[in-house]
Amino acid sequence: MTHPSLIIICGEHRALSAMLRSIILMLSEHRRKGTLPDLEALQAMLFYVDEFPEKLHHPKESRLLFPRIRGRNQRIDAVLDRLDDDHARGEQAIRELEHALLGWRMMSETDQCDARREKFESLMKQYVDFYLHHMHVEEVEILPVAESVLSADDWAELDAAFLANRDPLAGAAADEAYRPLFKKILGTLEHSGNVGSVLEALAGAALPRFTNP
Ligand SMILES: [Fe+2]
Ligand SMILES: [Fe+2]
Repeated sequence: MTHPSLIIICGEHRALSAMLRSIILMLSEHRRKGTLPDLEALQAMLFYVDEFPEKLHHPKESRLLFPRIRGRNQRIDAVLDRLDDDHARGEQAIRELEHALLGWRMMSETDQCDARREKFESLMKQYVDFYLHHMHVEEVEILPVAESVLSADDWAELDAAFLANRDPLAGAAADEAYRPLFKKILGTLEHSGNVGSVLEALAGAALPRFTNP
C-alpha cells in the first residue's frame, strides 16, 4: 500500500490493536496474580480509545473513504454497511465500557468488586474481539478495493484529510495537552512487564512525539 491515507489507516489499526491487546493482557495478568490493576490507568486507556480511534479514525473512514468506494459492487456495499454499523455501535460500546469501569472503581472496596470486575472484563473482551475483527475486514476486504478503484483526485483529498488528524500512538506528533494522558498510559504499560513491549511491537511507536518537548 503506497497511498499515505492507507498507510495511516493501517498504522492506526496497529496502535489500536496494540492498546486493546495490552488491556486484555493487563487484566488477565492481574486476575492471575489476584491483584487489582491500576483502574485510573485503565480509564486513561479507554479515554484514548474514545478520543482518537472513536472520534477521529472511524469517522474519517465512514465520511471520507467508504462513500468513494460505494455503488460499484453489491457485495462490497454490504460489507461497507456492516462496517458503518460497527462505527455507530462503537460509540455506544465505549460508553458502556467506561460506565462498567466506573462501577468497578467505585465499588472496588466492597463485596461487589468481583462481580463488577467480571462484568467489565467480559464487556472489554467483547469490545476487543469486535474491533479486531472489524479492522481485519477493513484491511482484507476494503483497502485493496480502494487501492484499485479510487482516482488521483480521490487520493489527494483523502491523503490531506488523513494527514490532518492522526493518532499519536501511531507515530504522529501529539498535542501538548495529551502529554499527561500518554505518560500515564505508557508508564503503566512499561511497568506491566511484557505488556509494554507488546505495545511497542504492535504499534511500532515506543513513545509518542509531542509538539513542544
Ligand atoms: Fe473502521
Ligand atoms: Fe479502521
